[in-house]
Amino acid sequence: TKIEDQVLVIFGASGDLTMRKLIPAVFNLYKRGFLPQNYQVLGVSRTHYTDQEYQKLAVLENPHLPTLEKDELAVFAQHVRYQAIDTADITGYHTLKERLDNLFKECSISKNCIFYLSTPPSLYETIGANLSKVGLNKESDGWKRVIIEKPFGYDLASANALNERLLNCFQENQLYRIDHYLGKETVQNLLVTRFANSIFEPLWNRNYIQRVEITSAESVGVEKRGGYYDKSGAMRDMIQNHLLQLVALVAMEPPAKMDATSIRNEKDKVFQAIRPLTQEEIRKDVIRGQYMASTYKEEAMTGYREETGVAPESRTETFAAIKFFIDNWRWADVPFYIRTGKKLPTRVSEVVIHFKPNHHHLFSDKKLPNQQNILVFRIQPNEGILLKFGLKVPGTGVNVESVNMDFLYEDLSNTYVPEAYERLLLDCMQGDATLYARGDSVLKAWEFVDPILKAWKDDPSIPVYGYPAGTWGPENAMNMIEGEGLKWRNPC
Ligand code: BG6
Repeated sequence: TKIEDQVLVIFGASGDLTMRKLIPAVFNLYKRGFLPQNYQVLGVSRTHYTDQEYQKLAVLENPHLPTLEKDELAVFAQHVRYQAIDTADITGYHTLKERLDNLFKECSISKNCIFYLSTPPSLYETIGANLSKVGLNKESDGWKRVIIEKPFGYDLASANALNERLLNCFQENQLYRIDHYLGKETVQNLLVTRFANSIFEPLWNRNYIQRVEITSAESVGVEKRGGYYDKSGAMRDMIQNHLLQLVALVAMEPPAKMDATSIRNEKDKVFQAIRPLTQEEIRKDVIRGQYMASTYKEEAMTGYREETGVAPESRTETFAAIKFFIDNWRWADVPFYIRTGKKLPTRVSEVVIHFKPNHHHLFSDKKLPNQQNILVFRIQPNEGILLKFGLKVPGTGVNVESVNMDFLYEDLSNTYVPEAYERLLLDCMQGDATLYARGDSVLKAWEFVDPILKAWKDDPSIPVYGYPAGTWGPENAMNMIEGEGLKWRNPC
């Protein structure tokens, strides 16, 4: 599809996300020929820079861009401008509007604009309200879209309030709530695997699936984000958004069509069906942990409480695991286990579908848990799909061994796999919200995690288990899978 001419306004223009992800994503789109000639990026933040200074900072000397491609960067830099404003003050928005009008004229752009809010979340409401006060929400002479970074709210009440206030200024179809997991190629492939192949979907239900496991493990700690993370924790940072979005894609019914409304309607039904946890289940089926100093692979690892920006007595979780059910026809009685954590042994995200064992064991006198069929969607790294099944060990007797059939994305030669931000920005430029989270689902995901966060806050007797950095989290979480001998799949 042809991309219309437009301006991408980035609030938080000198921030980390802008430098690391957004500008590189736009540069790649430019290089791949997606951007029209009449295209501008306008960086906005409080610091004063001239256009040239910002071009140097964000493009020419941005370490996250291929600095050797000097000529291409120089041409791309011409598409990047800068405007300093105080985002909290309405006068800045008159300045912004004037600047945009000049840019539209100078570059013959027909007043189409994306406003990307890559600022601290406390500014989202103010920016939305101020944009609308100066009429930058009006679409009479060109469309206006707003991309809102996560976290969308701090809890259910604040997410509700933010949603309402944004909807006072913009229409739902102008709002793009970004969840970068949805832009990952391997995540989108979940739907293709399910709905483009005839062999999986017939098995995709309670009759054949014993449990679903989703892990998103990181080997890094909180790095320089201690200040933010200590107020957030794994539940808000990863589960409320990324992991629950994955759950929705694994569990949803086939949509009537491959369009934004149909897909988002089906995802929303999953959120409606997730069974809320009782207080007792919150104690039993939700485990939180915090990494402690340790030595891992002969390296000294800092404990969470020693990290910069973290309170020395902090009870913020750097690990969380939940068991829950989805109360609908397809998933009745199938437990879902999800977990995420920092400073785990490796970086890996995967969705694991565990199929039920055979009813009758012909080749062994007992069922062996590790001989179940499993289907693994490896989201990152070493992106791919793996199917585990039983094979006769060659030789005398009949011994069955579990073997893997796998596909790796890297085997697709010459295939360019775009970064999540690249894909999502391109979609927004084209007005396609399919891979963005809709307001109702975001709120329902909050409805699920909110009681957990409340219980953790109000009841100090719910433990925060320490786990040595470099391990798979607290013991209690390792042992939470119900069923004899069943364990999480801990990939290396
Ligand atoms: C972000 C979280 O949303 O996702 C980070 O704020 C986390 O804490 C990151 O590290 C993980 O993203 P990815 O794409 O590396 O899995």
